[in-house]
Amino acid sequence: MSTKRSPLIFNVLAECATSKARTGKMILPHGEVNTPVFMPVGTQGTLKGLLTEQLEKLDLQIMLSNTYHLGIKPGVEVLKKAGGLHKFMNWNRCLLTDSGGFQMVSLLKLAEITEDGVKFESLNDQKSEIVLTPEHSIEIQNTIGADIIMQLDDVVKTTSPDNARIEEAMFRTTRWLDRCLMAHKRNDDQNIFPIVQGTLNKELRTASAKAHMERDVRGFAIGGLSGGESKDDFWRMVHLSTNILPKNKPRYLMGVGFAVDLVVCCALGVDMFDCVFPTRTARFGCALVMTGQLNLKQKTYKLDLNPIDKECDCSTCQTYTRAYLHQIATIHPVSCHLLTVHNVAFQLRLMKNIRDNIVANTYPQFVQNFMYNLYPNQN
Ligand code: GUN
Ligand code: ZN
Repeated sequence: MSTKRSPLIFNVLAECATSKARTGKMILPHGEVNTPVFMPVGTQGTLKGLLTEQLEKLDLQIMLSNTYHLGIKPGVEVLKKAGGLHKFMNWNRCLLTDSGGFQMVSLLKLAEITEDGVKFESLNDQKSEIVLTPEHSIEIQNTIGADIIMQLDDVVKTTSPDNARIEEAMFRTTRWLDRCLMAHKRNDDQNIFPIVQGTLNKELRTASAKAHMERDVRGFAIGGLSGGESKDDFWRMVHLSTNILPKNKPRYLMGVGFAVDLVVCCALGVDMFDCVFPTRTARFGCALVMTGQLNLKQKTYKLDLNPIDKECDCSTCQTYTRAYLHQIATIHPVSCHLLTVHNVAFQLRLMKNIRDNIVANTYPQFVQNFMYNLYPNQN
């Protein structure tokens, strides 16, 4: 009999009495994660603009990285030699890797999907083709060594009119899940999550969730959303998915990071989120605040000697004014760093507020205040 501890222990600590919101703790091989959690994205093994020690200072518990990018550069050989991504980037806390197919499809128009895997032309502009199969994605993810790894999935845009293709992708995602589970060599220290697909089709999404629940896994992801559909459709699909998925395992909604979606989807029972938005928008000069976003490149901030946000305790808000950030926004990359610090701090603070309000059983009031702040002129 094995006495080994499970590599994922999930305890729900408090539930909202009104909505499906819950707060809990995940214990993973590299540490604890308080949920609901937002995971910033460091695509290529770096959260652009921040050093590993700065991420620790921000109290980040988990970040996301991408198999597709890391598999190409530095590649499996370097990652193996370095002893995995944790050691390579000197990050001792939790990591999650996405499987790669989605990035290829979203980044490159060149990808072609077959039953075997996702075929794409090499990034390096060579004439060669690469096929990312479920087995290859898992091999790379086993080498990277993240605490949570994702199955390779077949993603179709929610706006696709092609029902046959939507159905094919949903069933293929389950076939690929089984190939990923077979290929996974580190089940005792890495957790693989299936991904529920099925676009906006209720029957397909239900069937996908139920099929994936028959597999022996420690958590589930909801994929294929937030890709151009209406908020109403998006939120309904999340609601449907969390109604089916088991309550005792974490639920991860992929690619979602706007504050309003975090607040609503926590109420719908989601535990984990990721998105490039907060860090990407920082690099374009935008700072996140409870009323929306400030584009610090705009002239309105030229004489504004306030911090981005008086309530924020991040090092940027403690040290610099909007006017100064405006001054450097167009002339120096250090402004990317300063705004990335603030935007990551903003997301983490929002999630802490959400967790605290669930514990205090004040989540409905929190949601109401949040919406009044964001949409002050609506009745
Ligand atoms: N990131 C955002 N959405 C998705 C998805 O549906 N699948 C994967 N693998 N990654 C995503
Ligand atoms: Zn700040």
